[in-house]
Amino acid sequence: MFHIPITSLKAQFGDIDIYLFDQLLKGRIQKGMKLLDAGCGNGRNIQYLMQAGVKVYGADVSETAIEQVNQLAKELAPTLPARNFIVADLENLPFADTEFDVVICSAVLHFARSEAHFSSIITELWRVLKPGGLLFSRLSTTIGLEGKLQQMEGRFYQMAHGPVWFLADEAMLVKLEKQLGFMRLDPLKTTVVEQDRSMTTWVLRKV
Ligand SMILES: C[S@@+](CC[C@H](N)C(=O)[O-])C[C@H]1O[C@@H](n2cnc3c(N)ncnc32)[C@H](O)[C@@H]1O
Repeated sequence: MFHIPITSLKAQFGDIDIYLFDQLLKGRIQKGMKLLDAGCGNGRNIQYLMQAGVKVYGADVSETAIEQVNQLAKELAPTLPARNFIVADLENLPFADTEFDVVICSAVLHFARSEAHFSSIITELWRVLKPGGLLFSRLSTTIGLEGKLQQMEGRFYQMAHGPVWFLADEAMLVKLEKQLGFMRLDPLKTTVVEQDRSMTTWVLRKV
């Protein structure tokens, strides 16, 4: 009667971000596309994609993260070359201009060291994207929590769960879109995690 066990969902998609999953459902990421996961961490967002025939690349400043992702790729997608996964700071990526169809950057940008560092990361992600390419980012912002956060210095905030994070605001995102030449594919969507943080989904097409 029922042919699809609910448990197969987790087996197939792992811990993929649900807003990235939404982009998949919208058909914006396809087999054969070249995709960079910028700040890939342990690879939760590329586990499915690498098995689905997407040409996945990953960059992270952490050597341990890149070792883990290489191991994951060896097991799940042995045809992906190990050189696709590199240790790098996102503000200086060793990739050619306009190389990627898709760049994803999830839960990374609050680690920016300054507003200039944040802007140079976005500029670098824009540089490696093809015209018409997709930038999918989930980032912590002040949106929806204006006046409720403990501001330290500039755009740095003491988060309720402990760390100090760099938080962008909407004006900053709009300015970068205009400066670089990005078009919004979806309106900004922000999830406010009660008394903790705001996570904004920012989905752009390079013009
Ligand atoms: C919270 S994890 C998110 C990992 C993954 N994107 C995800 O959504 O599960 C943040 C990752 O960003 C990496 N990272 C932070 N700042 C970075 C930078 N400037 N350049 C490259 N990687 C960075 C960290 O090493 C870490 O692996």
